[in-house]
Amino acid sequence: MSNHVLTVAYIAASVLFILSLGGLANQETAKRGNVYGIAGMAIAFVATAASTAVSGSGYGVLAAAGVPAVIIGAIVASRVAMTAMPELVAILHSFVGLAAVLVGVASYLQPDHNLVGVEATIHQLEIYIGVFIGAVTFTGSVVAFGKLRALITSKAVLLPGRHGLNIALLVGTIALGVPFMSAEGTAGLVPLMGMTAIASVLGIHLVVAIGGADMPVVISILNSYSGWAAAAAGFMLSNDLLIITGALVGSSGAILSYIMCKAMNRSFISVILGGFGTSGGKTAKAAEGTATATTLEETVESLDAADSVIIVPGYGMAVAQAQHAVAEITKILRDRGKQVRFGIHPVAGRLPGHMNVLLAEANVPYDIVLEMEEINDDFPETDVVLVIGANDTVNPSALEDPDSPIAGMPVLEVWKARNVIVLKRSLSPGYAGVPNPLFYKDNTQMLYGDARANVNGILSQLTATEATSTLVPAAVG
Ligand code: TAP
Repeated sequence: MSNHVLTVAYIAASVLFILSLGGLANQETAKRGNVYGIAGMAIAFVATAASTAVSGSGYGVLAAAGVPAVIIGAIVASRVAMTAMPELVAILHSFVGLAAVLVGVASYLQPDHNLVGVEATIHQLEIYIGVFIGAVTFTGSVVAFGKLRALITSKAVLLPGRHGLNIALLVGTIALGVPFMSAEGTAGLVPLMGMTAIASVLGIHLVVAIGGADMPVVISILNSYSGWAAAAAGFMLSNDLLIITGALVGSSGAILSYIMCKAMNRSFISVILGGFGTSGGKTAKAAEGTATATTLEETVESLDAADSVIIVPGYGMAVAQAQHAVAEITKILRDRGKQVRFGIHPVAGRLPGHMNVLLAEANVPYDIVLEMEEINDDFPETDVVLVIGANDTVNPSALEDPDSPIAGMPVLEVWKARNVIVLKRSLSPGYAGVPNPLFYKDNTQMLYGDARANVNGILSQLTATEATSTLVPAAVG
């Protein structure tokens, strides 16, 4: 393939990637966005494989690496549960980081002799920075994977003098840059490897210092880092498409991190510096009182009597896979003239947009699925709130207890509604490990048990009353 055709293919792929991101910003267009992304990647792959850089002798190597990768990727992606998606994303980010390190080392060992003077210096710098970002992304993502998979503690591991340690690691990185940049030929390999080791420690240290409830931000930050690592690899390989794609991923990941920081009331700058995610030694007050249990029958009665209902789903709905029955309940209640809407917290579940994906899969209409800030003022005028497997995202201590580890995090203020019914199996805390006083409020009732079993129970009782109400006129007639 000539370089002109390659350039055109790369521009087409870049445009498709931009359209893909635009499509993914909205539920109605998300499917189209995915199709654009797949088409862009297919064009990019075929064009790169047909380029002169590969077509000479590289097909054997490409097939040896690509075929097993495609098979493994397809199997893993088709088997992964939605709730395990963040782990998969974390480990995939680590691959991008590792690739940037390997590309950097390879291009250092096989220098492009066409580059001389300033160009050669800039290329050296690209390699150094690219390997640095790649190594931080690689080890940071592996630690994030371990935390999400519960292989290592999800609590923040805080070493004494950790900020000093971060600065020392950065200084070490810069110091090793001097012998690397001034070395002749490939003599700078030793400082390059030394810097890689330091950056790897930095990646581990930045992420282990981040605790439980802040992991969503970590995932999106590592997403951003992986984009910058890919862009750096693009500079090293002089591949424009990789630069554009990396910059798109890097900047969109940074924007997502910013949005999530706002949603969790965290400072973006302190997140970037890795110095966040602790409760600053704060401990939550134990939630006190007596929780009132309710039954399926009472829940159905409350729903029958309500004019307005808000459903707040959380991680438990995803685990229980209750979204389809929830969608059917929504339809029945709406058909009976009730206003039913969903309130979605930005970090509900375990990955950005988790609840939106599940509800879209169950065909819940998009226009009744509202973001936290769109619905939070409506709780006082709502008759019944059904909290289905949500916990941290509806915890009033975030607003009422300044000593709570989640103090200041905006939450769905469900307790302001007339009645709150919480579907979960016990009174145990959610992901952040913070006790939840919602369960002990006078207007809260607990419907204990697996969310799917209970939602199915509500559905069958609602369907039974529907059948009776349609039979009665027929019997009378
Ligand atoms: P969580 O606070 O995690 O609480 C989920 C609740 O679901 C648990 O308390 C659990 O209580 C219940 N549950 C689990 N399985 C259930 C089942 N089969 N049936 C019924 N209930 C079940 O949920 P949330 O409100 O969605 O908050 C999300 C949390 O995850 C936040 O702290 C957030 O920061 C964190 N996080 C989010 C993300 C992203 S990007 N969204 C990523 C990582 C972490 P029982 O055990 O009593 O049933």
